[in-house]
Amino acid sequence: MAHEIIVVHGNGKLAGDVRISGAKNSALKLMAAAILAQGEVVIRNVPRISDIDVMSEVLECLGARVVRNGSADRDEHVLTVDTAEVGSFETPYELVSKMRASISVLGPLIARFGRARVAMPGGCQIGARKIDMHLKGLEALGVTFEIDHGYLEASTENGLRGASVALDFPSVGATENMLMAAVVAEGETIIANAAREPEIVDLANMLNEMGAHVRDAGSSIIRIEGVPLSTFHPCDHTTIGDRIEAGTFLVGGALTGGPVTARGINPSYLRMAIAKFREMGCAVDEGADFVTVSRTEPLRPVEIQTLPHPGFPTDLQAQFMLLAACADGTSVITENVFENRFMFAAELARMGADIVIEDHHSLVRGGRPLQGAPVSSTDLRAGAALVLAGIVAEGETRVHKIDHIDRGYEDYVGKLQGLGADVTRELPYSGHRATVRVKADA
Ligand code: UD1
Repeated sequence: MAHEIIVVHGNGKLAGDVRISGAKNSALKLMAAAILAQGEVVIRNVPRISDIDVMSEVLECLGARVVRNGSADRDEHVLTVDTAEVGSFETPYELVSKMRASISVLGPLIARFGRARVAMPGGCQIGARKIDMHLKGLEALGVTFEIDHGYLEASTENGLRGASVALDFPSVGATENMLMAAVVAEGETIIANAAREPEIVDLANMLNEMGAHVRDAGSSIIRIEGVPLSTFHPCDHTTIGDRIEAGTFLVGGALTGGPVTARGINPSYLRMAIAKFREMGCAVDEGADFVTVSRTEPLRPVEIQTLPHPGFPTDLQAQFMLLAACADGTSVITENVFENRFMFAAELARMGADIVIEDHHSLVRGGRPLQGAPVSSTDLRAGAALVLAGIVAEGETRVHKIDHIDRGYEDYVGKLQGLGADVTRELPYSGHRATVRVKADA
């Protein structure tokens, strides 16, 4: 079957307002957390993206009922997740290999059943992406792990008990899995060097709405007072806005001059990105739930280091590399969170960018005009950035492997069209019609 591609004609235009969807990285974990509620949880502002479909399949495979559009107002961003009938604690390889975030059912399954059987994750090709910290944290709570034919078998002999754990690195996934198990552990759990991402706060808020006692989420030390599983109950929760989707569109504003306004996002989630927009010569305006980026002067080079939140997000690294490639001068971008996350550079080089990679540093010599070219998404952020590159490139850009983009961006093409871009989804070569010449009889 031919896969769709995105075709962009570089018209240099992006201006106006764009409505930001709910955060992918929050919604996925909120869905997993619903396992604890043992009833019908309502989650609002859930993006319509394929990763959410995979998480729905994961939950359905455990016995849950997941319905989109089920609310009285038929809002397609409302998901009802009924976990009353969840009776299985096994997540198969077919699903975990499609999406690494499936591993986030591990904590809630252990909390609900005292055991779990989850296939070892695969996931996107951005470094080794180990799960050792997830396991170490859960072991401290009394979980024992065994590997059985590619599956991780978790069990607890004497139930979960609170513990003090210091993570080696503020891993988002490890913090979340610990959090979702510790809420039912006996006594107090302290997670030190915890991840501080806004999505962690969103998850802790929903857990508290369901009956948990979590304090200080968003700081590096999270405290959890365990409560019995039977005290958990369903809730109605609204997902926070997606700071990475917002950042991606704002990069579009910085690239073209904009102004582009991202609505439905708390600007405090984007502090470091906003600082970098300003350093690069952009004007940034913000209100309670919007950010606007515009630019009238040439882009200036920048130095960026990706770090756990509140540092500069690795999920905006590719988009800012594109900006750097269009700046007047040489930028240095250092990737500290994931290994192998510079694959985007090779694709951007196909469009004429001058980028040298040395270990986890990249030197971007900006100012070369970009040329439209056939390119491939290497992951979802790189894919989104390649489409933006096409908007400022000369001629036509054809972006392949856009299923990566569909994993994390709701209606990316429609939203870009709304801002004035000349961008469409097409089947490859659909514009090229074969001409058959019939030779007249001699
Ligand atoms: C989440 C986000 C992802 C984002 C990342 C960092 C989701 C679905 N994905 O991924 O978009 O880029 O946070 O902000 O929310 N590590 C280990 N051992 C572990 C766990 C992690 O070595 O047990 C390493 C990883 O290989 C990586 C780094 O720690 O190099 C950060 O990973 P982590 O913060 O856990 O990211 P994810 O939760 O996988």
